[in-house]
Amino acid sequence: MTPTVHIINGPNLNMLGKREPEVYGSLSLDDINQGLETLAQELGITLAFFQSNHEGMLLDHIHQIFEQDPSGLIINPGAFTHTSVALRDALLLLSCPIVEVHLSNIHKREAFRHKSMVADIATGQMTGFGWFGYHMALRFIHNTIAG
Ligand code: DQA
Repeated sequence: MTPTVHIINGPNLNMLGKREPEVYGSLSLDDINQGLETLAQELGITLAFFQSNHEGMLLDHIHQIFEQDPSGLIINPGAFTHTSVALRDALLLLSCPIVEVHLSNIHKREAFRHKSMVADIATGQMTGFGWFGYHMALRFIHNTIAG
């Protein structure tokens, strides 16, 4: 059976390409997802994409993923990274590798972005590599599940 890796993007990430391109780059979320799809085909992985601006929708989606026994999760929680205990608690349900991704380097930015509620429960964090961070995350998960 082909492994399924879930890609979750949180608030405001549907506006990529238009939103502060000097910080987040010029690619839209669709562009990033298409690039990931190409890589996933090469690696023999099925991807499932989800984006929401609503915290509760993200939690409901993680609960659904939990029931599906996922092979991995790549998540950019956007601003909820810095605030959401509920998101952290939902992610604690999962036993698959979880990679936290940020397009910008959150550690080089405002102090309130330095704290991630997710970092210490994720398998690892990619921050500051733009869209390429998602690709590195997928390659890492591929390596991990391939053993
Ligand atoms: C972000 C960084 C967050 O601080 C910010 O709120 C975002 C995007 C990133 O990808 O760099 O929405 O997660």
